[in-house]
Amino acid sequence: MQDSSSQLVIRRPDDWHVHLRDGAMLKAVAPATARVFARAVVMPNLKPPVTTVDQARAYRQRIVEAVPADVRFEPLMTAYLTDHIDPAELERGFSEGVFTAAKLYPANATTNSAAGVSDLSRISKVLERMEAIDMPLLIHGEVTDADVDVFDREAAFIESHLIPLRQRYPSLRIVLEHITTEQAVDFIRTESLAGDSRLAATITPHHLHLNRNAMFLGGLRSDFYCLPVVKRECHRRALVKAATSGLSCFFLGTDSAPHPRSGKESSCGCAGIFNAVHALESYAAVFEQEGALEHLQGFASEHGPRFYGLPLNNESLTLVKRQQTVPKTLEDSGLEAGEWPVLFHAGETLNWSVHVDGQAETN
Ligand code: DOR
Ligand code: ZN
Repeated sequence: MQDSSSQLVIRRPDDWHVHLRDGAMLKAVAPATARVFARAVVMPNLKPPVTTVDQARAYRQRIVEAVPADVRFEPLMTAYLTDHIDPAELERGFSEGVFTAAKLYPANATTNSAAGVSDLSRISKVLERMEAIDMPLLIHGEVTDADVDVFDREAAFIESHLIPLRQRYPSLRIVLEHITTEQAVDFIRTESLAGDSRLAATITPHHLHLNRNAMFLGGLRSDFYCLPVVKRECHRRALVKAATSGLSCFFLGTDSAPHPRSGKESSCGCAGIFNAVHALESYAAVFEQEGALEHLQGFASEHGPRFYGLPLNNESLTLVKRQQTVPKTLEDSGLEAGEWPVLFHAGETLNWSVHVDGQAETN
């Protein structure tokens, strides 16, 4: 990493958790991720979900076709766990290099999760197999019980599901995705400092910037609604400390989750924040505020590949200290007029701009 006050050169990063969708939305959003990130772990919550090797192969091909040919970008595919998924299919996909990991959505926890797992006991054979072949399990860590307050669902999941899961499958490699609470930070940090290198967590840009007041600032702000929902300021602070700590158990996962505007702005709006276009600048703002820019490269480009046992990227990318004002939407996307998701940080000025050699600037 080279650092001067006006620019920061870092190893090209990866996004360890992103929603690229399908069809017109895929074509519209995939170039933004591929411009900056060399690899991305792609979520499988399509309709229907990605549960077979053939589906994942075909989806990967559609992603590759949606990215400009001169950009090096590798989608890392995930399998969507259901109550009935076949362990042999998972193992085949993993050994053929099609599946990088499997995703656990507790049924009905979030967008397109109705086919998720209704009870962990139903997938015990799958988890045993994943542990045996060292296939990572990516967890949406929220309980779905209606009587648990929506702001407490992550902490409840850790106590009632994650701790028992780790006792039962001690060698299973687990990523607790998009963590949002100090309970999650403490749990992951404590286990990691105790020597457990098989447990990690991703942190999104929006959970680093927003607390729950943001959703209600002057009115109901659907653009800031995601799941797990943003929490109190003390939780946001804990996440900022974790991300900027330099600890290798925390790494970048944007959870960029675009929805058409009609999906967000409705009486029952969809959860998801579309941050792919300025994600790295967004993280850089947080690291700069914390005086921790020296830890950005580890978080964005090194901790993730080391956890997954993948090589570090060789290319570099430059963050230039040049202000940019984030537009509300990008219009030349090929989506229906007015259906572009609002960009995260719309209307705000960010201090950094990503410069990728040989590629056009975003703004
Ligand atoms: O906010 C979210 N949006 N959280 C998720 O878990 C899913 C995602 C989506 O697919 O829209
Ligand atoms: Zn997600």
